[in-house]
Amino acid sequence: MNEPFEPGRNFAVALDRGDPLGRFRDEFHVPTRENGEEEIYFTGNSLGLLPRRTPKYVEEELQKWKRLAVKAHFSGENPWLPYHELLAEPMARLVGASASISEVVTMNSLTVNLHLMMTSFYRPTRERHRILLEDHAFPSDDYALESQAIVHGFDPAEALVRLRPDAQKGKHSIETIDTADIARVLEREGESIALVLLPGVQYYTGQAFEIEAITRLAHAKGCVVGFDLAHAAGNLVLHLHDWNVDFAVWCTYKYLNSGPGSVGAGFVHERHGMRRDLPRLSGWWGHDKESRFRMEPGFRPIPGAEGWQLSNPPILSLAAIRASLEVFMEAGGMEPLREKSLRLTAYLEWLLEREIGDSVEILTPANPRQRGCQLSLRVKSSGSGRTVFEKLETSGVTCDWREPDVIRVAPVPLYNRYEEVHRFVEILRNAL
Ligand SMILES: Cc1ncc(COP(=O)(O)O)c(C=O)c1O
Repeated sequence: MNEPFEPGRNFAVALDRGDPLGRFRDEFHVPTRENGEEEIYFTGNSLGLLPRRTPKYVEEELQKWKRLAVKAHFSGENPWLPYHELLAEPMARLVGASASISEVVTMNSLTVNLHLMMTSFYRPTRERHRILLEDHAFPSDDYALESQAIVHGFDPAEALVRLRPDAQKGKHSIETIDTADIARVLEREGESIALVLLPGVQYYTGQAFEIEAITRLAHAKGCVVGFDLAHAAGNLVLHLHDWNVDFAVWCTYKYLNSGPGSVGAGFVHERHGMRRDLPRLSGWWGHDKESRFRMEPGFRPIPGAEGWQLSNPPILSLAAIRASLEVFMEAGGMEPLREKSLRLTAYLEWLLEREIGDSVEILTPANPRQRGCQLSLRVKSSGSGRTVFEKLETSGVTCDWREPDVIRVAPVPLYNRYEEVHRFVEILRNAL
């Protein structure tokens, strides 16, 4: 983005003043330091902030528990039995899912959902049993994929095809991966690959993968395609339905601001939602709603993603998600947020390069279409990254450190300000 940014603080303040989303910061509790000042909180990619309305939503459910107890499943406002349905429409909007049949469901947590999806969508045969993943996948995904290969009787060392960045780039231990590299691997080995499982946004480098193009390439080779959207949901504009993605999973405690360990979500494309030939691990909450309480044997899935549910969900957590999704909808959904995010992160990049470009490098792609709000920074002078990170922390910046050597900073468009970006770069320059 070639915006005419200016280096002074006044410029940042003017950007905030003209920001149509600026008022949403007041919708959140921003942590404060001991001196009472607000922290610069750039860790929404790890745990999003608490929306001010969330305690009210959770309290409402506690009150229903207190007053109605078991009857709250069926009576009162927003009964618990269909409570998860309240989240379906806004969640579907956030990830570009179809509204005609339920393609999205809020349930379990990310890794559990990944296993549930793989039970249905990783159907290996002797000839086609391999799984394409990135070499530096988030460990939980790595373990999940490895265990799936083992469960099906394959040796993970052979079954997992690990995407490594182009060796020619070779500057760093962990690099971004070009879609062209993925295309080459699929061209060479696609016929032996049953499943492609990649992140929407890579947690370490901040790279946004080209979901639509990768899905097309993988389908052309007959592979099923799933995405881990932990760092993409609530960060990027997604069109999972139109992009023809087979399945996806994500969590809600990062950009979706729903609290630590809150319930995750899953997407199943409508092409698969009615299929009877797909095996799945089933539970009563995925069973036909009309006959669920007849308590009879014989599982009949609800059509769509809801049919993958197992258990009755934790309502207090769903209440927090409901509150958070409401804030997203009031902000106009992902499009205006992404518009601000592109500018906010471009401004951060511009200031970093201008002020301290000789001492800090940015691992995240420079192309705005290939990243979300996060930038992953590496301090050039070898070994000093961790010390710099600690200085940031003591100066009131909350960002995070990822081994082996990256500081991740994620200005979030819902609650971060341009002025904070300006102050952050100043603090980082001092820390260096
Ligand atoms: C990219 C990614 N995948 C998977 C997970 C695991 O999520 P959960 O603990 O909710 O299963 C995380 C957690 O931070 C993550 O960042």
